[in-house]
Amino acid sequence: STPVLVDCDPGVDDAIALLYALASPELDVRGVTTVAGNVSLAHANRNAARVLDLAGARDDLPLVPGLTGPVARPARIPDEPIHGEGGLGGLDLPETGRVPVSGHAPGWLAEQALAAPGELTLVALGPLSNVAAMLTLHPEAGPALREIVVMGGAAHCQGNITPAAEFNFFADPEAARLVLESGLPVRVVGLDVTRAALFPLERADRLAALPGAAGAAGTLLRGFVLRYRERFGVAAVPVHDALAVAAVTHPGLLDFESGAATVECAGEVSRGALVADLRRPERTRAVRVALGVDAEGFTRLLADRLAGYADP
Ligand code: BDR
Ligand code: CA
Repeated sequence: STPVLVDCDPGVDDAIALLYALASPELDVRGVTTVAGNVSLAHANRNAARVLDLAGARDDLPLVPGLTGPVARPARIPDEPIHGEGGLGGLDLPETGRVPVSGHAPGWLAEQALAAPGELTLVALGPLSNVAAMLTLHPEAGPALREIVVMGGAAHCQGNITPAAEFNFFADPEAARLVLESGLPVRVVGLDVTRAALFPLERADRLAALPGAAGAAGTLLRGFVLRYRERFGVAAVPVHDALAVAAVTHPGLLDFESGAATVECAGEVSRGALVADLRRPERTRAVRVALGVDAEGFTRLLADRLAGYADP
């Protein structure tokens, strides 16, 4: 199985991505780091801890807090997040005794990478603040990673936080730029594919009827779909972060094009826009951007893995 580190800002789809990752035999989740994004860092920690409990993750699975905001700008947490009250859509998960380990995500991620050179895949599901800080503060650590898989960006489609930008890249554009320009092997799973692989209300309802963590996952997804329907009139949601994890478990679900990519940091109306130059793939191949997805394959896989939590 592939050893992974998951950096996240839960967030409904981050929570679902964690549940999916921890239920996937293809992965060995070695630790979870948190970053401010959908919610404040404090909320992200609390949500991540409660989701790890829900998934039945081992007590000593490292949970490491990271940056409280972007690397070069003041933090701006959305007031009315699509993720609902507290970031987990009002799902009332029990309080947790799980305490984040002391330490700071960038340094911890670097230690892990250097302790297992060439082995670890870092899956980044929030603003890229922790990842960028790791690359800057510990320049030897990036090349020790096997790969970085990023949920973020909109290459050929409209953004979700502005017409030009996807939320994670908009939230910390300097960080996103640094990661995409790092020259490291990066795969980008953005709105081009997450919006093409919508998880429908009926599947969420079926999950919500199951016992235990499967039912909780269904309730989360159901709330997410209902908020999404109210805002956009569509009764199906992109489960962005889970698709990024599926890019590691089932790479064949996605089609990628390679090239050079960067992120707009200075633009007045284009802040956070992913600018991917896929015209001459032979020139640079560092970044691969997902442009095609097997939508039915992904939603079925996700539903099956989440439903598995209902089995004793
Ligand atoms: C990304 O932004 C967040 O709201 C989601 O958790 C996901 O990581 C989608 O744009
Ligand atoms: Ca996220």
